[in-house]
Amino acid sequence: MNTQASKLEALVDAHQRPESTVRVVAITSGKGGVGKSTLSANIGYVLSRMGFRVGIMDADIGLANLDVMFNVRTEKNILHVFKGEATFDDIVIKLDHNLWLIPGESGDEILKFSNATIVSRLLDEAETLAPLDFLIVDTGAGIGETTQMFLRSADDVVVVTIPDPAAITDAYAMVKVVSKIKERLFMVVNQVRTPREGFKIFDTIKKVAVENIGDHLELTLLGSVRTDPYVARSVKQRVLLCKELTNIASAGEIEAIAQTLAKKKEHKMLDGNKEGSIGIFFKRLLGQF
Ligand SMILES: Nc1ncnc2c1ncn2[C@@H]1O[C@H](COP(=O)(O)OP(=O)(O)O)[C@@H](O)[C@H]1O
Ligand SMILES: [Mg+2]
Repeated sequence: MNTQASKLEALVDAHQRPESTVRVVAITSGKGGVGKSTLSANIGYVLSRMGFRVGIMDADIGLANLDVMFNVRTEKNILHVFKGEATFDDIVIKLDHNLWLIPGESGDEILKFSNATIVSRLLDEAETLAPLDFLIVDTGAGIGETTQMFLRSADDVVVVTIPDPAAITDAYAMVKVVSKIKERLFMVVNQVRTPREGFKIFDTIKKVAVENIGDHLELTLLGSVRTDPYVARSVKQRVLLCKELTNIASAGEIEAIAQTLAKKKEHKMLDGNKEGSIGIFFKRLLGQF
């Protein structure tokens, strides 16, 4: 990869873009292994193909999924940037046209970085990063403090679940946590047999949420994705489903989810979303505790 060329490209693009606000979409779940990384990678890719500039941040570093999925090697991550041991430019990996990987961190060490000097240095540095339209954050599962920090700072939160009863229970627990910090929440039901199964599971969760949390939380189904051996195989073979197998049903379902997110980005004025720069996202991330 020619990093020099990509930096130049980023610079040129930055000057050509009149508006650059990033929509931060955190993909999370109650239980692990439900397809967060698969969805983050593929949704990110589809958005980049639509012409959006997309960063995917791996904030579930324990499993280091995304580097495997994209078949790249990461050495340093965002924690090194926070510590001053690397710059953003050092850690960001260009994956494809319009697509970058930002190796993140899921450990609690990240919580220590709240002092003002670090925040302001980060802001300066982040502004030199290519202006992104989307930042997809692949968070860790569960309601740990670091994950919550990412969810709080994100514009959109997507809770992924699978039809398994234990996963549904954990997804509901996640919905409850998110309802305390967000007014709206998206869900994706992955590994369904039929789209109808996805609707049914979503309806059940929504009903329980309205009864117990109240209706101040706007809960929306972004879509469901069927169980497909091609999905699992693509991960094993380190190829991206939505890149290599575009005409299969599961890839189409993921594309539809990406398209819905794209529409929301285009209509951001209507949904009252206050997107900011990536620097503002990091400020939110680090300045909130
Ligand atoms: N729709 C699907 N059909 C079949 N297998 C899937 C599907 N979605 C995810 N998987 C498989 O499930 C496993 C867990 O997915 P992953 O994205 O790593 O989950 P998470 O990031 O939530 O831990 C992977 O082996 C992946 O290939
Ligand atoms: Mg993962």
